[in-house]
Amino acid sequence: MALSDRDQAMVRALWNKMDTNVCIYATEALERTFLAFPSTKTYFPHWDLSTGSAQVKAHGQKVADALTLAVNQMYDLPNALSALSDLHAHKLRVDPTNFQFLVHCLLVTLARHYPGDFSPAMQASLDKFLSLVTSALASKYR
Ligand code: HEM
Repeated sequence: MALSDRDQAMVRALWNKMDTNVCIYATEALERTFLAFPSTKTYFPHWDLSTGSAQVKAHGQKVADALTLAVNQMYDLPNALSALSDLHAHKLRVDPTNFQFLVHCLLVTLARHYPGDFSPAMQASLDKFLSLVTSALASKYR
C-alpha cells in the first residue's frame, strides 16, 4: 500500500492546519489510549499517566515531533523512523498491537477537533498514513 499524491496532500493539509497544536492532539490521543486501552499503561510502569500529567505532555511532544517528521518524509517512512523502530522493537519490546490502539485514538482525537475537515476521504488518507507509520515502527519487531 502506497500513499497516493492525493493521500499525501490530504495529510499535509491537516498537518499544516494543526500547526503547533500537533503536540496538544498527540497528548490527548495518548491520554485517550491509556483510558480506552488500559493494557497500554504497562509499558510506562513508573509514570504518572493521569490526564494532564507533565510526563504524558512531554511524551506527547515527542510523539508529535516524530509524526511531523513522518509527514515531512512520507516518501521514505522506513528510513525516517528506523531509529524509533529499533527503540520500540529491541529496547522497549512494544507489542505491535499497541500501535493500532494509539493510531485509533489519534484518528478519534483528530475527528473530534476537526469535524469539518474529517471527510471519509480524509479519514482514509490519514488511516493509510498512520498504518504506514505503524508498519515502519513495527518492522524490526521479530
Ligand atoms: C504512532 C506511534 C508511536 C510513535 C510515533 C512513538 C514515538 C515515540 C517517541 C518519539 C519516543 C521517544 C524516543 C526518545 O526519547 O528518544 C517514544 C518512546 C516510547 N514509546 Fe513510543 N511511539 C509510538 C507508539 C508507542 C506505543 C503504542 C507504545 C506502548 C503502548 C509506546 C511506548 C513507548 C515507550 C515505553 C517509550 C519510552 C518512554 C520513556 O521511558 O521515555 N510507543 N515513542
